[in-house]
Amino acid sequence: MAALNRIQKIASHLDPPKPFKFKVALLGAAGGIGQPLSMLLKMSPYIAELSLYDVANTPGVAADVSHMSTAARVKGYLGPDQLPAALAGSNLVIIPAGVPRKPGMTRDDLFNINAGIVRTLAEAIAAHCPNAWVAIISNPVNSTVPIAAEVLQRAGVLNPARLFGVTTLDVVRAEAFLGEIVGADPRDVSVPVVGGHAGITILPLLSQARPPLPASVTAEQRKALMTRIQDAGTEVVQAKAGAGSATLSMAYAAARFADSCLRAMSGEGPVTEYAYVRSSAVQGLPYFSSPLRLGRSGVEEVLPLGPMDAMESENFEAMKAELLGSIKKGEEFVARGP
Ligand code: NAD
Ligand code: LMR
Repeated sequence: MAALNRIQKIASHLDPPKPFKFKVALLGAAGGIGQPLSMLLKMSPYIAELSLYDVANTPGVAADVSHMSTAARVKGYLGPDQLPAALAGSNLVIIPAGVPRKPGMTRDDLFNINAGIVRTLAEAIAAHCPNAWVAIISNPVNSTVPIAAEVLQRAGVLNPARLFGVTTLDVVRAEAFLGEIVGADPRDVSVPVVGGHAGITILPLLSQARPPLPASVTAEQRKALMTRIQDAGTEVVQAKAGAGSATLSMAYAAARFADSCLRAMSGEGPVTEYAYVRSSAVQGLPYFSSPLRLGRSGVEEVLPLGPMDAMESENFEAMKAELLGSIKKGEEFVARGP
């Protein structure tokens, strides 16, 4: 009997039962986000094949992660010659490739390097896995998502329902900070965060928070909480003092986002998630982070933003010019050509 159990256990690893069925490619897998995210994805019950791609150090990361006793098969791919094989057959591609901020920089200061990286990777996705869901982490997200969209559109394979800028970290932070204030487990807290992913374009809708902010919280404290959520990335950049930006909390947030995508792909929907997508949610802004209903085919519905209080409405109006500028900058980068 013991021998039979052992054989069944080995067989279940060799031929994992559903839902271990998807191929996920992680581009930038050896970086500060890439390494912990590789580890978290290796634990996903939805992933049959985990494809780890980077321009440096992937053999070591892949060998390391592959020794975890979970079902996903891990393969490492190094350098542009191996990118097609890394992508082929992928259902979900997650992109944290690119440089992070140092103190004193804005996310937009990363544009000159990261725009070209995202363009090249999007071209490869268009060629090798055009139907994949694509989740972009590389900053400035407000511009890199429009860059990827333009590349995919020019290749004739854009499906806006499957292209996402990952803003989950903003939601995760809002949940953590509010949990601290109200003394609740952050997993029982919900705070919508909409807009974009940079400074004032990050718009937490604290008026819709659950549980609500206590009545004892003053308008100044409310404003301070909003500002802390908007500046949380900078808080980490400053604390790391030149050694990069958020990596561990980002890996957690990206793993959560990936899990939502894979659950939706599996038909376990409807799944609700926030992300920065092409949509008509806000007039005059072709990209906006909104609550989304995800299903097998991607975004099935962009959900309403819901009511805003006076402070949120003011912030909403104030962010529009900056967000539109970042979107246009990304689109124009692709239009100018290499
Ligand atoms: P990092 O420098 O530690 O890692 C980046 C990795 O990308 C490196 O391993 C590097 O070799 C790789 N890379 C560079 N060019 C590549 C290419 N052409 N193809 C594949 N891989 C390539 O940086 P990090 O801390 O992991 O951050 C990565 C990006 O994520 C940054 O742009 C950062 O600003 C962004 N970020 C976004 C969020 C968000 O909420 N969306 C949060 C944190 C960080
Ligand atoms: C974050 O919000 O932590 C990231 O966008 C990284 C950064 O530069 O702040």
